[in-house]
Amino acid sequence: MKATIALLPGDGIGPEIMAQARLLLQHIAALGGHRFEFESRPIGGAAVDALGQPLPGNTLAACRTADAVLLGAVGGPRWDRIESVMRPEQGLLELRRKLGLYANLRPVASHPALFAASPIKPDRLAGVDLVVVRELTGGLYFGRKFEGANRAEDVCSYRREEIERLVRRAADLTIRRRGKLTLVDKANVLATSRLWRRVTTELVAREYPGLEFETMLIDAAAMHLISRPAQFDVLVTENLFGDILTDEAAMLTGSMGMLPSASLGDDGAAVYEPIHGSAPDIAGQNRANPFGMLLSAAMMLRHSLGLEEEALLVERAVADCLSAGQCSADLGGTLGTDAAGAAVFQRLSRAAA
Ligand code: IPM
Ligand code: MG
Repeated sequence: MKATIALLPGDGIGPEIMAQARLLLQHIAALGGHRFEFESRPIGGAAVDALGQPLPGNTLAACRTADAVLLGAVGGPRWDRIESVMRPEQGLLELRRKLGLYANLRPVASHPALFAASPIKPDRLAGVDLVVVRELTGGLYFGRKFEGANRAEDVCSYRREEIERLVRRAADLTIRRRGKLTLVDKANVLATSRLWRRVTTELVAREYPGLEFETMLIDAAAMHLISRPAQFDVLVTENLFGDILTDEAAMLTGSMGMLPSASLGDDGAAVYEPIHGSAPDIAGQNRANPFGMLLSAAMMLRHSLGLEEEALLVERAVADCLSAGQCSADLGGTLGTDAAGAAVFQRLSRAAA
């Protein structure tokens, strides 16, 4: 197949891990006879420096015409003091909003070779295989804001349609998995959460009666994610709760560097990015874990390019590297970013040979 892929490396470790993703895709193309064309564009702090804005028009245009978008990470202390509309993070948020990427899929699976890297006890980690479906274009992130010297305000607002389209995505995914859907909210306090609960409960009863459905308050969910993570299948939740829960969930795998994500809309290009940040403290040192980025590329192969076999090949190669202890320092290994990437590429070629 032939596909155009927009690459947005961003800031910090973004360019290093993106280089590995690009190499990975070149290997996949060579193995399967595919033609991938890459268009690299700046976003975040790199774009602020080069072009004076975190999401330049040219970057957005390339994303709109591409078949899929891969993103590294944005942000860093260098841009921390600039006003909010010019912050690197604003580039990412604008991209999500302008492309209508309301559904963010964040799969979390534990791997026995990584049990020691996690701060959680191994007996809790066995069998963890869950997906957080996070709403990505609404809520506190995108509500009206006021920022004064002595008072500030962020409005949280959700409409029924925004909840329904996300819950349908989550429920469709749940059917194809173990059939258990958990809505995470704060319905004992927040009006928006009570709307989420009412709309979701009705929708599931009406359209997905076969699902096992439960609701859970965000504070309790944060606790159960640590005490009994293996009992979750699909969690669906609003933007901010999903952001917080997925950093917590990353610790189930042992490192922030492991988790991939897919941000999907109804049509058009989707964005694939690891959930971790730009890790400015280790940027440029060949120390970053590239696996979250490579697994994001695998999600892209699956969801945007229809290359399920290739996606599985990548996921298996990463898992085999973990089993063999071929990984970066955050996971207790000794490999640098490029050597960890190379270990994955070697396994791909061997598996295909
Ligand atoms: C994430 C990140 C972003 C978010 C930041 C960089 C704006 O933390 O993708 O989880 O909060 O959504
Ligand atoms: Mg986050």
